[in-house]
Amino acid sequence: MARTPLIAGNWKMHKTQEQAEEYVQALLPRVSAVDGVDIAICVPFTDLQPMVDSTRGSPVEVFAQNMHHAPEGAFTGEISSPMLIELDVRGVVLGHSERRALFGETDRALALKVPAALAAGLVPILCVGETEEERDNDETDRKLRQQINDDLAGVPDDELASVVIAYEPIWAIGTGRVATDEQAQEAIAFIRALVAGRDSRAAESVRILYGGSVKPENASELLALEDVDGALVGGASLEAESFAQIVAATPTTL
Ligand code: PGA
Repeated sequence: MARTPLIAGNWKMHKTQEQAEEYVQALLPRVSAVDGVDIAICVPFTDLQPMVDSTRGSPVEVFAQNMHHAPEGAFTGEISSPMLIELDVRGVVLGHSERRALFGETDRALALKVPAALAAGLVPILCVGETEEERDNDETDRKLRQQINDDLAGVPDDELASVVIAYEPIWAIGTGRVATDEQAQEAIAFIRALVAGRDSRAAESVRILYGGSVKPENASELLALEDVDGALVGGASLEAESFAQIVAATPTTL
């Protein structure tokens, strides 16, 4: 089954509206001719509306970086799916390791957020991955199994293929230490097998990205791996030129 690759740039807490506008004006001409690759920028909440407006009619989709599972309520500082949908936001990153480690995001919360995003019509990018210690202790598979089982527990089997999963080894995020081809392929094939354990057809079509120190120099090799369906790019997505180079390095199924 041909899966359309997705290259998603995770800006994290970077770019004011002015900087975002400058970036997108540099990015759009560089990706206007791209076919067969889905492109997303995952931007801070304050950049969502201007980026949706500026990318309208282009191949670039706009994602948020977090949301609450409830449609509304007494949750100071949170944003809900109807608020994102109202802006024409296409999807949302959920469970990024920074949110898990620094802001107390739990698997229990994610078990509510992922189905809530799907029900609202948003594409969730669910991030999973092991720490360096877990890898050293041969606990990578256990960690991935636990996160996939827990975080996708509320997603019906026939909707699993609508989730995007990002495998992000925590030791590779922002460190310049990219996973080897073997490590990335093995972990992502394992995640696909976990999905297959629930629904074999979903496993064929679910997109699983690699994330962690993806750069223009290593992108084409990683993206050519059999089970890797794209990348979640942090640091190298902050410059339009290097993000566009990663998009250009993506093999398509066309
Ligand atoms: P990085 O970040 O590309 O800077 O390693 C990836 C991520 O956190 O999604």
